[in-house]
Amino acid sequence: MNARLPPHTITKMVDEQAHEFRVATAAYRGPEVFAQEMEQIFYKTWIYLCHESEIAKPGDFKSTQIGTRPVIVTRGREGGIHALLNACTHRGATICREEKGNTRAFVCPYHGWSFRTSGELIGIPDDARYPEGFNKSDKNLKSVPRVAAYGGLVFGSFNPDVEPLETFLGGAKQHIDLWLKRTAGSTYRVATSHKYGFDGNWKFQAENVYDGYHPGFVHRSAFNTVRKFEGSFENRELHAAVRQQGYTRGYPEGHGTLEAGAPLESGGIDPAVRDAYNTQLKTLYGEDGAAEVLTNRQFLIFPNLTIFDFNIRVIQPIAHDRTEVYSYPLMIDGAHDEINANRMLDAQTRVGTAGILSADDIDVFAGGQNALRTEAFEWITLSRGLGKEEVKPDGERVGVYSDEAPQRAFWRKWRALMAAAA
Ligand code: FES
Ligand SMILES: [Fe+2]
Repeated sequence: MNARLPPHTITKMVDEQAHEFRVATAAYRGPEVFAQEMEQIFYKTWIYLCHESEIAKPGDFKSTQIGTRPVIVTRGREGGIHALLNACTHRGATICREEKGNTRAFVCPYHGWSFRTSGELIGIPDDARYPEGFNKSDKNLKSVPRVAAYGGLVFGSFNPDVEPLETFLGGAKQHIDLWLKRTAGSTYRVATSHKYGFDGNWKFQAENVYDGYHPGFVHRSAFNTVRKFEGSFENRELHAAVRQQGYTRGYPEGHGTLEAGAPLESGGIDPAVRDAYNTQLKTLYGEDGAAEVLTNRQFLIFPNLTIFDFNIRVIQPIAHDRTEVYSYPLMIDGAHDEINANRMLDAQTRVGTAGILSADDIDVFAGGQNALRTEAFEWITLSRGLGKEEVKPDGERVGVYSDEAPQRAFWRKWRALMAAAA
């Protein structure tokens, strides 16, 4: 592992004063900070692995990663969820090369060792050539020590002493609960992901998720195009360049949200279908409850899980200047076809890889990384709304739509974890 940056160096990178909140550009630059982020953040806290619907049946599996470590998440024969390091215990080959599927066992492509979906070693070809006393029992696939789920979201942690998942989720839990209520008592089913990558730091994407300041600028041409057509976005997007209506929230646990001030219409659906859905929500949660559920909301579970109303995005760090993003459309089990078709359309055309918004943002991230390559440029500022936000007793901070409250919450948590004892 690279030499650790000492706590005082880290602490100085996130500089919070009454009049300004700034972050050193060094925090986005270079392999040292990135290596420390893997050790101190990605291998210390809870990281999202998959949605339960992706591994619904015994034998189902999905390949993913925790930080840069490759991981397979599986549904064991007994029904439990396992998270395993995707590395053969013989000589380290990648054991599972598929993104997802269903299997009775994983067979290593190199020399054919085989493992149950729980990770247990079950076969070594020609094992008679191994010495007397060769210990097979410690050759199971290495397990990620902690796995837990909340609301269908499965998380894993390499830290055996990690805090309980619900403590980690903290203030974000209420937003997950509201997001779940959109299913009107059903459950989500995630569809196959869209993917994109960009030559920039993973934190650019994280900071963008709840950035209510940028849409009227970077996405202006996209919005103008949409307005020309009687499309489904007409009532959804901003009409003012900088918007105050709505909220940003930052939590002490590092999570944050962006919420529109009023429920947004789901444009493309047959009004009768939409009304029936709205009525169903009102019956379940009351008039005000339904309005809260339908408020457009996008949030980040620190450090790299994004939840939108219609999709989940997972930000995978590859290197300090390379990031991959997986965007999963969210279907509602048992909902009217029109509702799910509209959800898929939204995921494809708005926030998906080829959507009208993502390309604009990715272009900015890559350009930002380029600018940060120069050490002559020392600080970026995240001071919008600082000191003007409402601070609640539990540490939640609430700003208006275009404030940088959630980004500040992210960086405070980043600083605390990065400067903590190894
Ligand atoms: S590396 Fe997997 S069987 Fe040899
Ligand atoms: Fe954007």
